[in-house]
Amino acid sequence: MSTTEMPTSEMSSNEAILGRTDVNDLDAILDVPNPYVDEVLHSVKDNADAIFTWDYEKGARPALNKLYEKAKDAQWNGETDLDWSIEVDQERQAAQGVNDAKAMISPEMLAGTCFAKFSDADWMQLNIEQGNWMLSQFMHGEQGALVCTAKIVETVPWIDAKYYAATQVMDEARHVEVFAKYLDEKLSGHYPLNTHLGMLLEDIINDSRWDMTYLGMQIMVEGLALAAFGFIHQMTDEPLLKKLLRYVMSDEARHVAFGVLSLKEYYEGLSDAEMRERQEFAFEAAVRMRDRLLSQEVFERMGVPVKEAVELTKLTPDAQMFNQFLFSKIVPNCKKLGLLDASDKWLRHRFEEIGVIQFEDWVDTGAEYESLDAVSADRAAGELA
Ligand SMILES: [Fe+2]
Ligand SMILES: [Fe+2]
Repeated sequence: MSTTEMPTSEMSSNEAILGRTDVNDLDAILDVPNPYVDEVLHSVKDNADAIFTWDYEKGARPALNKLYEKAKDAQWNGETDLDWSIEVDQERQAAQGVNDAKAMISPEMLAGTCFAKFSDADWMQLNIEQGNWMLSQFMHGEQGALVCTAKIVETVPWIDAKYYAATQVMDEARHVEVFAKYLDEKLSGHYPLNTHLGMLLEDIINDSRWDMTYLGMQIMVEGLALAAFGFIHQMTDEPLLKKLLRYVMSDEARHVAFGVLSLKEYYEGLSDAEMRERQEFAFEAAVRMRDRLLSQEVFERMGVPVKEAVELTKLTPDAQMFNQFLFSKIVPNCKKLGLLDASDKWLRHRFEEIGVIQFEDWVDTGAEYESLDAVSADRAAGELA
């Protein structure tokens, strides 16, 4: 889309927001180098001021106070509340995944492609690598959430929000811990942070405005994670991962609610120009997260032509449905915050362009956390100490 087609001339171009003119330019997406591959540590400039408040009135924001009290009661222990003695047979699961794929993809569909000569062992390895890749990205994303939420503790001016964010820091530490443990003990290898997810995390941390951390992390990254975890929780029959995801989702639903509740109040006081900046940031985040789903690193490791493999897998109905479904929490939450229709519906048009607007009237996550509170449910049933 060229800038002249945009509803308002004041909006930044794709070039300015994304670094490419065509949002779907696959060559440009795959060409971005990955700076994280050979690192142990990575520094990002955090440009924000730490804010003290001398207004200690607890409960001045009742919805945030309620969330905080809920979070204190809904803590769980990643070491002792999950049964790590469960044996995970990754090869058996991969074999099942290959059988499922074969039921949908005929050999004729693969004729003449880089997958035509794939043996059963190759398919199995591809499936195993995709599992390792996916859990690795979840783990890195969780560390991003840990760092971003610690930043919110520093930068948000409201005491109820600082209190709540402090509980989220603990939640995110537990999430990094359980995903890292699952990868190390139950799967078979790590992948580095995907470069597109990394760009988004760095942009969130770079930004000096406290509400941008919420928009990037709680609304966009965690909104996508909540949908992804829900999907995988439904699909997997591996009992350890199923319970791990159920408990992580119980926390994540609160985190997204924290974002919706905080930004709803703050956005009501913003000017049109300030709302436009938030719309552009939401669009950038949506595209970065879509770009990160291509699992290009898996194809590189498998030694198949990356662009061809990405194009083939991207086009399968299952992949398209999954990738769109990941926006099922983000779009209604953006609508609730007034982001879709500000600036002559700018973000609505961009979400139409990337094919995710159909979720706009799905349930927003402002109150959903109570129904997803598996930790409290298990405690009430005597299944959790
Ligand atoms: Fe998390
Ligand atoms: Fe989270």
